[in-house]
Amino acid sequence: MFNVAILGFGTVGSGVYEVIKENNALLKQKTGEDIAVKKILDIRDFPDSEWESLVVHDIKEIIEDNDIDAVVETMGGTSPAFEFVRDALLSGKHVTTSNKALVAAHGTELLKIAKEKNVNFFFEASVGGGIPIIRTLTESYAGEHFKEITGILNGTTNYILTKMDAEGEDFEKALSTAQELGYAERNPEADVQGHDTCRKIAILASLATGKEVNFEEIYTEGITKIDTTDFEYAKYMKLSIKLFGDSKFEDGMVYAFVAPVMVERDHPLYMVNDVFNGIMVEGNMLGKSMLYGSGAGKLPTASAVVADIIAITKNKDKNIPFGWVNEKQAVADMSETSH
Ligand code: HSE
Repeated sequence: MFNVAILGFGTVGSGVYEVIKENNALLKQKTGEDIAVKKILDIRDFPDSEWESLVVHDIKEIIEDNDIDAVVETMGGTSPAFEFVRDALLSGKHVTTSNKALVAAHGTELLKIAKEKNVNFFFEASVGGGIPIIRTLTESYAGEHFKEITGILNGTTNYILTKMDAEGEDFEKALSTAQELGYAERNPEADVQGHDTCRKIAILASLATGKEVNFEEIYTEGITKIDTTDFEYAKYMKLSIKLFGDSKFEDGMVYAFVAPVMVERDHPLYMVNDVFNGIMVEGNMLGKSMLYGSGAGKLPTASAVVADIIAITKNKDKNIPFGWVNEKQAVADMSETSH
């Protein structure tokens, strides 16, 4: 039996429960393990639900439970998520998280603890929802010197921009639909102000350079100033407007920004619409490659978390290094640049 505890039973946490239940036989076939959710940490009780008996309110009940092999963190935010994840790793448990705020702010430290404890700290679901971008950068493209990563990394803003463009829908209405569909953060400011994209491009740039890229040093502009006039101009010029997170790697520097950009029709990210994400990676040997898929939402994100659980079951006794070391990466100031 491989026991998992879920911290935070919101959209993604409940999705992880659903994927483990729905695909249980398949997971057993793939891993040779009976994967089960043993405990759920949440402030709610969920009376009369199927998972009511699994709910605990004190993290100690999970940290001190030696039968729990892995912790899934889907609470969001940095505190208490950081303290809970740190303590789980220190107690010798593997951790997977979908929480980009946590990884961007504390990834370096948590990876270091995981290495010292010979466990794994995985975060496939933190960037790109169901797109396997973390594993692609760290495994499939491990032999590359990266030149540039450009992404549409936020499903909520891409959904809003698509609706404003195609249907002339206003910003507020498109945002409230994205919230209803479970794409947006609890506080959608993080989406529309570009902070969510900023954290995601910082994580990808950290993995690409192997050093910590401080998300606070990345020039970040969201989509709140985009209005119908911008779309009229864009249409006239046969362009589209997308929120890009971009990171170029040159001469030991990272040149990164988050901003809405006018995109030409022949650009591969032009056709990335609705809640989909698209990520273009350029490597010195690879050339260009593009990944595309469901960038947000309950089950795609939960699927990426479960992929991490599978990877953990296969690497129970060893730490998989990410090549992200405890050093600061120099980031250029892009605030005066026009994108
Ligand atoms: N709010 C995020 C988005 C969720 O819209 O992309 C997935 O990280």
